Amino acid sequence: MPKKTTIIKKSQKMKEKKDNKEVKRVRKSKKDLITVTGMRDILPQDQKYWERVREVAKQISQDYGYERIDTPILEFADLFVRGVGAQTDIVEKEMFAFTDQGDDRLVLRPEGTASVVRAYIQHGMLNHPQPVKFYYIGPLFRHEKPQSGRYRQFFQFGFEAIGEDNPALDAQLILMGWNALNDLGIESVIQVNSIGCKECREEYKKALVKYYKSKTKLLCDNCQTRMTKNPLRLLDCKEDGCKGVREDAPQILDYLDKLCKDHFMKVVGYLDELDLPYVLNPYIVRGLDYYSKTIFEYWSTDDIEGKNALGGGGRYDGLVKILGGREDTPACGLAMGVDRIVAKMREKNIEVLEARVDVFVAQLGDAAKKKAMVMYEHLRKNGGFTVSQAFHKDSLKKQLEIANKIKAKYTLIIGQKEVSDGTIMIRDMQGGVQEVIDFNKTEKELKKRLDKYHEGAVIDLTQTEAVESGAEMSGGITPNVIADVEDLKDGLDI
Ligand code: HAM
Repeated sequence: MPKKTTIIKKSQKMKEKKDNKEVKRVRKSKKDLITVTGMRDILPQDQKYWERVREVAKQISQDYGYERIDTPILEFADLFVRGVGAQTDIVEKEMFAFTDQGDDRLVLRPEGTASVVRAYIQHGMLNHPQPVKFYYIGPLFRHEKPQSGRYRQFFQFGFEAIGEDNPALDAQLILMGWNALNDLGIESVIQVNSIGCKECREEYKKALVKYYKSKTKLLCDNCQTRMTKNPLRLLDCKEDGCKGVREDAPQILDYLDKLCKDHFMKVVGYLDELDLPYVLNPYIVRGLDYYSKTIFEYWSTDDIEGKNALGGGGRYDGLVKILGGREDTPACGLAMGVDRIVAKMREKNIEVLEARVDVFVAQLGDAAKKKAMVMYEHLRKNGGFTVSQAFHKDSLKKQLEIANKIKAKYTLIIGQKEVSDGTIMIRDMQGGVQEVIDFNKTEKELKKRLDKYHEGAVIDLTQTEAVESGAEMSGGITPNVIADVEDLKDGLDI
């Protein structure tokens, strides 16, 4: 006879096998239906964070005079090959590229700057007063290894100012990105560097390669290739060995020519004047080839190594020309990573207010529903209130539950009695006080109460006020109204 424990173990194993099969079955069937690797849904409960970021981005664009532009998600691959650089990680490994039915080589845009510059050239904006200042927000696509804070579809908002080389513009853009984070409650430190112009950068690259060649053995495989392909990227390698080598590497600031140095000193001077928290970081080089002179990133104060920069940008004086525009068109810009900003807001428990609902319109009975619908449309169009409803529900209790859930400040209730009396009940959802008012005075009465509400006054409707407003009141509701509501409310305690 097998021992009892052996039998238990066997049946446990069988159960595990069965469970595993079940999991596999679910996974297999799910596979066709779940999101593509590195892409995700932004669910309704997360939308308040995204909405808040969009609001702040829009506000900043207005504060500094940047106008919205939307460019297509699909662009010709060549735009980024030429703009971002054939040797960059983005172009070499990360583009979602395909050839379409018309034999065109297309990509899902991996970044926004090249597209904005293309639009600037394509629509002849070099003839507009310069700089032309753009603001954008939307999804980007990079086929990166998915990990925390790194997605294959992610969102940025960005600002680009094309046609101006004044260092005050660089400083103001740096300020704009910092202000956005600050307005969202995120503490960040700005990392600033200058990679000079093409000429001084060439000199620097030579010195850098010479230095790194003497340390080849200490470098990771990636950096060994970077030495020939993209030497500046040697500086932002996160491997410990390479970080050690970097400490004694030549620094770009020593290679800047007079013009580039002056430009950078002025930018830094403005940052000092604005009292912004920044550090001069000679190791940030950025992963896109179009930069010149000022470059910068925003690191959360708790992200010491900048593994998950919240945003970045810089000057790109040569890009307009590279993409076929007028020579010598200076430009500067930045982009902030919305996914990472939202993640930081959640991590820091930054409170975001839900969209406010001023008035919920509830009804009971067919005739009341019709009147309520008309009232709703009137308030929505004329009242200047945010209104909500659930006309698909018949139960008053269910409707009031919804009004509570969305934190409506007032609920208007209309039932059979109100329809025949030409009245409507108004309920203060916080204080629970309710009264019956003239149907035709609803908008006026609501306005009065909401003005008080927004002034921060506690709504305490006294008998006098009610008399003044023509409302019927008795502890907030007349006895006969209580009786009527009792009839209406299908067991609800209102
Ligand atoms: P970037 O540094 O490649 O610059 O991206 C800017 C920000 O987008 C990053 O700091 C990060 O927050 C976010 N980001 C980038 N890749 C991902 C990803 N895979 N998943 C989640 N977030 C990501 C640019 O794109 C330049 N176009 C910025 C610019 C504008 N320079 C001048 N003007």
